[in-house]
Parts: sequence; structure tokens; C-alpha cells
Amino acid sequence: MSKEEDVLINRAGLADKVKKSRLPARLDLLQSLSGLLLFLFMCGHMFFVATILLGRDVMWAVTKFFEGYFFTGGKSYPWIVSIVVGIVAVLFVVHAMLAVRKFPSSYKQYRAYRVHMKGMQHGDTTLWIWQVYTGFALFFLASAHLYQMFFWPQNIGPYGSGGRMWTDMLWPYYLIMLLAIELHGGIGIYRLAIKWCIPNAPRATLRKMKWGLTAFFLIIGLLTLAAYMKIGYDHRGNPNESYTPSWAVQSVNEGSK
Ligand code: HEM
Repeated sequence: MSKEEDVLINRAGLADKVKKSRLPARLDLLQSLSGLLLFLFMCGHMFFVATILLGRDVMWAVTKFFEGYFFTGGKSYPWIVSIVVGIVAVLFVVHAMLAVRKFPSSYKQYRAYRVHMKGMQHGDTTLWIWQVYTGFALFFLASAHLYQMFFWPQNIGPYGSGGRMWTDMLWPYYLIMLLAIELHGGIGIYRLAIKWCIPNAPRATLRKMKWGLTAFFLIIGLLTLAAYMKIGYDHRGNPNESYTPSWAVQSVNEGSK
């Protein structure tokens, strides 16, 4: 720190505060990093789940790929998926715990924030509170989803997933979670870009890109949801049957000859 900076800090009465701690900044960085990793995971997740749009066989193959089927001569190990879910869950909890620090901690603080927000009429301030709302909702919604994926990874597949959507009537839950994650992720990545990477970029352009990203994933997500619901509906009479493509059944039979 230069001498002039020292003098300025002393004059402003901030000397003790500056020396106090770098922890808040480190926690901020960690929150951003965990958010970025979750965002990247969610991009991959949405594409993998959306492979159902390319057909049941493709989604089945993707599921089996993650279970090690193609590397072990046709044996499935769903616990591999559980391990991945466990890692994502840890990241998710770390991210949520770091974010909670910034939530208004009392009704008084919340009211003060609302007054500022209305007074400032600044788009980014409004986006921030939506990130708080959607983050809060996701804490419950995604926890339930991760719990299910962790304990029953063997039930992932065209029929298993379709059955969850239709027969188990979970589509409204998935729909709400989809809306929340697309808003949360879009706002999150926009805020990261402004905070760490391109603070001087024109915000209007960044905001347009943000909405474009949200709309893109939302459209894919809605089509995916509809595809699972249709499979679940068509297959509603046989909830316990799991899907295996005819070519996979053939190769298993050939293997046992
Ligand atoms: C490794 C962890 C995860 C796995 C293995 C996983 C797996 C899946 C699978 C297989 C589906 C299809 C429906 C079903 O079978 O139930 C699905 C849908 C979905 N998941 Fe995940 N998921 C994971 C983490 C997450 C997280 C952390 C979130 C959100 C924060 C999330 C949000 C969603 C949403 C919104 C859908 C519905 C997608 C749509 O209908 O377009 N998932 N997930």
C-alpha cells in the first residue's frame, strides 16, 4: 500500500477496518467459484437430460454411460451416479451456505432493501432479489431431487424418469424447479461476468445475453419435460418395467450364447 493510500485510509477512519480481515472477500470468491461450477454442471445436466428429445435409446445410452455399462462389458454400476450426486450435493450446500450470509436477516432489513430497490429503480438490484427468492426455493427443491438421485440412481432412464413425471405426478415440481434454476443460473452468470470478468461491458448487451441464455435453456427444458411426461403417460400401466433398447437386449443375449 502506498503512503498516500495509507493517509487516505487513516483520514477516512478505516485503518482498523482495512487490517481486520480478508475473509469476506475470500468467501465471496468461493461463492462465485462454487456458483460457476454449479452453472457449468447444470449446462451439462440439462443437455444430458434433454437427450430424451433424441429418442429413448439415446437417453438410455447416456444413462448407462454414467453407470459404466460401456466400459465393463455391459454391467451397470448406478452407485457411480450416487458418487457424482454426492459431489454435486457438497458443492450445492457450500454455495447455499455462502449465499445465506447475504440474505436480509430480518424483516426490517428486508423492508429497507425493498425501499432502496423501489427508490433506485435499478434493474440489477431487482435481479438480485430474484436471485435470493429463486435460491431460497432451490434449496428445498433441489435438495429433494438430489436426495432421490442419490438413493435411487438405478431408477434413472426413459421409463423411470417418465414415470416420476407422470405416474408419480412430479411434473409440477419439476416445472417450478426448472423455472427457478433457469432464472437463478442466468442471473448468477450475468452477475459473475460483471463482478469478475467484464465490469465495463455494456450492461444492456450482457442483460440481453443473459435473457437469451435463460430462454434457450427454458425452451429445451420445457420440451424435455413434455417428452418425459409423454413417455410416462404412454407407459403408465407398467410402472416397474425398465427400458432397454432392442439392440442392447440382443447383444446381452448374444453374449450369453
Ligand atoms: C448429479 C446430480 C443430478 C442428477 C444425477 C440429476 C438427474 C436428473 C434426471 C435423470 C432428470 C430427469 C427426470 C428424472 O429422472 O427425475 C433430471 C431433471 C431435472 N433436474 Fe436434475 N439431476 C442432478 C442435479 C440437479 C440439480 C443440482 C438441479 C437444480 C439445482 C437439477 C434440476 C433438474 C431439473 C429442473 C430437472 C427437470 C428438467 C426438465 O424437465 O427439463 N438437477 N435430473
